[in-house]
Amino acid sequence: MAPKLAVLAVLASLLGAVSCEFSISIYAGYGFPPPNPNQPFKLPPASPPKNPRPDLKVGYYAANKCPQAEEIVKRAVEEATPGEKAGLIRLFFHDCFVQGCDASVLLEGPDTERTAFPNLSLRGFNIIEKAKAALEVECKGIVSCADIVAFAGRDASCSLSDGKINYQVPAGRYDGNVSRANDTFLNLPPPFGDLKLITDMFAAKGLDQTDMLVLSGGHSTGRSGCGSFANSFSNRLQADNSSTAMNRTLADQLNTTCTADSVNVPLDYKTPYALDHQYYKNVQEHNVLFTSDAVLLESPETKVLVDSFARDPFFLSDIIPIGRNPWYDAFAKAMVKMGNWEVKNSTVGEIRQFCGKVNDKKTY
Ligand code: HEM
Ligand SMILES: *[C@@H]1O[C@H](CO)[C@@H](O)[C@H](O)[C@H]1NC(C)=O
Ligand SMILES: *[C@@H]1O[C@H](CO)[C@@H](O)[C@H](O)[C@H]1NC(C)=O
Ligand SMILES: *[C@@H]1O[C@H](CO)[C@@H](O)[C@H](O)[C@H]1NC(C)=O
Ligand SMILES: *[C@@H]1O[C@H](CO)[C@@H](O)[C@H](O)[C@H]1NC(C)=O
Ligand SMILES: *[C@@H]1O[C@H](CO)[C@@H](O)[C@H](O)[C@H]1NC(C)=O
Ligand SMILES: *[C@@H]1O[C@H](CO)[C@@H](O)[C@H](O)[C@H]1NC(C)=O
Ligand SMILES: *[C@@H]1O[C@H](CO)[C@@H](O)[C@H](O)[C@H]1NC(C)=O
Repeated sequence: MAPKLAVLAVLASLLGAVSCEFSISIYAGYGFPPPNPNQPFKLPPASPPKNPRPDLKVGYYAANKCPQAEEIVKRAVEEATPGEKAGLIRLFFHDCFVQGCDASVLLEGPDTERTAFPNLSLRGFNIIEKAKAALEVECKGIVSCADIVAFAGRDASCSLSDGKINYQVPAGRYDGNVSRANDTFLNLPPPFGDLKLITDMFAAKGLDQTDMLVLSGGHSTGRSGCGSFANSFSNRLQADNSSTAMNRTLADQLNTTCTADSVNVPLDYKTPYALDHQYYKNVQEHNVLFTSDAVLLESPETKVLVDSFARDPFFLSDIIPIGRNPWYDAFAKAMVKMGNWEVKNSTVGEIRQFCGKVNDKKTY
């Protein structure tokens, strides 16, 4: 690591809490030990999104449309509970994977995405509505719900990671008006999915296996209903000799806790509220809830990434870290990439007035 960067890293750590207001990372971003010192660790090249949208722009609203737009969303997210913040990260994922990042996940009504089985525990809708209401007062008809979901996913990630994850969100998405419950099954990967299935389902959204593994780190915060990993179809709490089996200690604990499908348990048993790289340590120890998490150890390519993201940074002394685990920046990049998926423009979309319903043709 270059001396300059070392100084930067030390300075950064001395500055204390990182504010989520700054979009530049003040960490040096280098200096973590590679898994094998003789063989420097390199992230595999990320494939470009299949549908880059040059019309999405960082600072899209700042220029003149609504300079305070991102600030208003951030204020709404700051008031959210840690659980709602986790929900906001997942909401962005579910929005982008079904009909593209177009706020279709927010539409209310019979047979919409929200009513589908995987919605079970989606949360954070109220935070989006609160931000939208404030935006409509200050900038009527300007800021799309799809962009609010993208900004909120970033702000929630920043807050839950204590500022370690921070990035600029290219914006300019329009809201779609199609939301179908049955689309969720085809598009959202299931928790019992094996490595090939979840890799393929991400590939279908322009995201490669590395993106999938990096974004799965979202499971370092938030909760799951017991029914998502212990049901009659696939029960991860039962005795199981397979390589993807849940750590017996955790399985025994959950066997006691999970008295019903609707009981919620933390996704990360160790640091449930922090969005951090603990997830990858949990994967190494088989302390993860879903098969889709456990399978990340199953191939040499994914295992080497898990091992590298599981590592803690070097410490100069007990309190001064040098460098930084590479997962945080990788997560930021992957969130931006996921946010490119099938975005809509003004020809095929609109700026919704209420995020829960498509516009009445007469109101705009
Ligand atoms: C690899 C494919 C994935 C599968 C199979 C999967 C599956 C699940 C399941 C089953 C739950 C619990 C639902 C419940 O029972 O309440 C969950 C929660 C969650 N997921 Fe995923 N997920 C995947 C990818 C992602 C991605 C890409 C993100 C975001 C970057 C994400 C973020 C979250 C978060 C934050 C929660 C907790 C939500 C809350 O506490 O409200 N997941 N996921
Ligand atoms: C999820 O779907 C169920 C019906 O399957 C519905 O009762 C519930 O209100 C939906 N949840 C949300 C947050 O919309
Ligand atoms: C999904 O539902 C829509 C109506 O909500 C229907 O038109 C379509 O055929 C359904 N698709 C499948 C694969 O069931
Ligand atoms: C797991 O392995 C043990 C010992 O090798 C064996 O006794 C047991 O029947 C196996 N259980 C299952 C579910 O395969
Ligand atoms: C807990 O373990 C018992 C005994 O192995 C089993 O019958 C039960 O189904 C388990 N509970 C759950 C929620 O998996
Ligand atoms: C199970 O988890 C514990 C930590 O809780 C860990 O020490 C142990 O190595 C794990 N077992 C396996 C088989 O991964
Ligand atoms: C929106 O995208 C469609 C399809 O990509 C394109 O034909 C149309 O010209 C675009 N409209 C605007 C206003 O950019
Ligand atoms: C949905 O949007 C498309 C494209 O803007 C439009 O043709 C269609 O009429 C809209 N449908 C509804 C129900 O608003």
